[in-house]
Amino acid sequence: MYRTHTCGELRSEHINQTVTLSGWVQYNRDFGGMTFIDLRDRFGITQLVFGMDIDNNLCEKARTLGREFVVQVTGKVNERSNKNNNIPTGDIEIIVTELTLLNASKLPPFTIEDDTDGGEELRMKYRYLDLRRRPIRDNLILRHKLGQEVRKYLAGQGFLEIETPFLIKSTPEGARDFVVPSRVHESNFYALPQSPQTFKQILMMSGYDKYFQIVKCFRDEDFRADRQPEFTQVDCEMSFIHQQDIIDVFTGFVKHIFKEVREVELGEIPVLTYADAMNRFGSDKPDMRFGMEIKYLDSQLGDTDFAPFKDALDQKGSIAGICIENGAVFTRKQLDAYTEYVKEPNRGMKGLIYVKWNEDNTISSSVNKFFSEDQLKEWFKTFNGQQGDLLLISSGATRKVQKAIGDLRLEIGSQMGLRDKNKFAALWVVDFPMFAFDEESQTWTFEHHPFTSPKAEHLDKIFTHPGEVLANAYDFVINGWECCSGSIRIHDREIQSKIFKAIGLSEEEAQEKFGFLLGALEYGAPPHGGCAFGFDRLCAIMAGTESIRDVIAFPKNNSGRDIMLDAPGPISQEQWKYLHLKPGS
Ligand code: AMO
Repeated sequence: MYRTHTCGELRSEHINQTVTLSGWVQYNRDFGGMTFIDLRDRFGITQLVFGMDIDNNLCEKARTLGREFVVQVTGKVNERSNKNNNIPTGDIEIIVTELTLLNASKLPPFTIEDDTDGGEELRMKYRYLDLRRRPIRDNLILRHKLGQEVRKYLAGQGFLEIETPFLIKSTPEGARDFVVPSRVHESNFYALPQSPQTFKQILMMSGYDKYFQIVKCFRDEDFRADRQPEFTQVDCEMSFIHQQDIIDVFTGFVKHIFKEVREVELGEIPVLTYADAMNRFGSDKPDMRFGMEIKYLDSQLGDTDFAPFKDALDQKGSIAGICIENGAVFTRKQLDAYTEYVKEPNRGMKGLIYVKWNEDNTISSSVNKFFSEDQLKEWFKTFNGQQGDLLLISSGATRKVQKAIGDLRLEIGSQMGLRDKNKFAALWVVDFPMFAFDEESQTWTFEHHPFTSPKAEHLDKIFTHPGEVLANAYDFVINGWECCSGSIRIHDREIQSKIFKAIGLSEEEAQEKFGFLLGALEYGAPPHGGCAFGFDRLCAIMAGTESIRDVIAFPKNNSGRDIMLDAPGPISQEQWKYLHLKPGS
């Protein structure tokens, strides 16, 4: 028997018992006559004591044990004279009488500690060592717990867990497909699913009302902290429901998982329209942990001569900004940095105007040549601002200025410590636009996916005013992260054909790509809808980490490589041959 207990198990009630433990050497401290070792396994850490007075040879042997050596010890549980309140086993120690070296270890390339000295690339290369560290282990334990609670809640609501295939044909979720060449069918490829979207709809058409799956999805897209090329969704679908039913069921779902996994009560979860979210926060995934909402001076400055504002209004744009409470103390350097921030190419603002209402009741501003102090004080009213506050304002095309000011809001919110990772603010965003205009191809494309139903009252605008068509689509957002997306689907064959046409798919292309779905729509498809939660994102938010890599056992790095495996990698000549592929073709 390798062990009678784990390294996280022993307490004062075990004192005087003889126990056997196995684990890894975390620390080895030699005090001459005594050697102390912290023994670690996934359950915790227990202090071992080797004394010259107990067994000289054993003590000598213990001294030679390096970090990460694997050992088995037997000894008596003893009450510690200096208790360690930081660990659950801190009341006891083991006076060791037997020691077996199970395996030696090379010196690890970084310290296996909570705060390690290893950089991310190094830790990824030696992921098997990194996974021994407590923060990663805690995240994976949380992930396990979350998976359990997801299943518990959804099964409790009558959802069936059904698996769908990985070797499929393309599913349109807006990314590129990963493809797998077929050996048997020369020049043919499978695509890995970007999501099980079409399968879950087929399941509804086959009568499997209430489906879910915790499932891998594959997307060949740009990398970010909240994206991985393979990631996990909690994918769900229901029949005979309206949007409100989905929102109700999944509000219950998120409340359940936050309560069970984090002991957090989410409280009332607001529902905002897409248009409101953009107007108030400049984002369709607003971080609602703090206010600092965007306000507009458009009507107040309707007859302004100040060129940047006038130009914006002449072009039906906006003058928008935020008010920073007690921000009048911000330095010139800070203000310059914010100006540069909104001018960065992805935000593209021409400048940023500041107005400070100083503590001595004076106003300082970058536009005091153009506006009187009284006028500038009036602006504060629009922002519900007061003495001591700062306004940051820009102008331009409405969506562009909203995004820039929305980003600035987040940046300043972070700097001011308003985005506490232990605070959770959730919301649903509804009424998304159905189509988005793709500047590159100068065509209309879908905003969510092409199976999303347009609002019935907007059906007649699909071809005439696609930009005005709203969809029965919704997102669940928490702390500024889009954690879930979904929609009520089209269950009418004719409308589905119309949408394919609107995004530029010919009847033949639609048949070739989605003939199976169009076919199924002709055999009694029920009204249905659903959503998919990003499981990794939920874990990351609950774990309070910025990157989903921290909650995935074997993640890819930020250029999509698995550094431990060194993947992707070349294949053999033989594989090229039997897959009917030609290098460089
Ligand atoms: P969507 O594409 O919005 O919708 O994805 C749903 C949720 O999955 C998460 N997510 C990701 N997480 C990590 N890495 C990625 N690359 C990644 N891409 C998406 C997000 C997102 O909200 N089939 C539809 C859902 C539906 O309509 O039911 C879909 O996949 O949290």
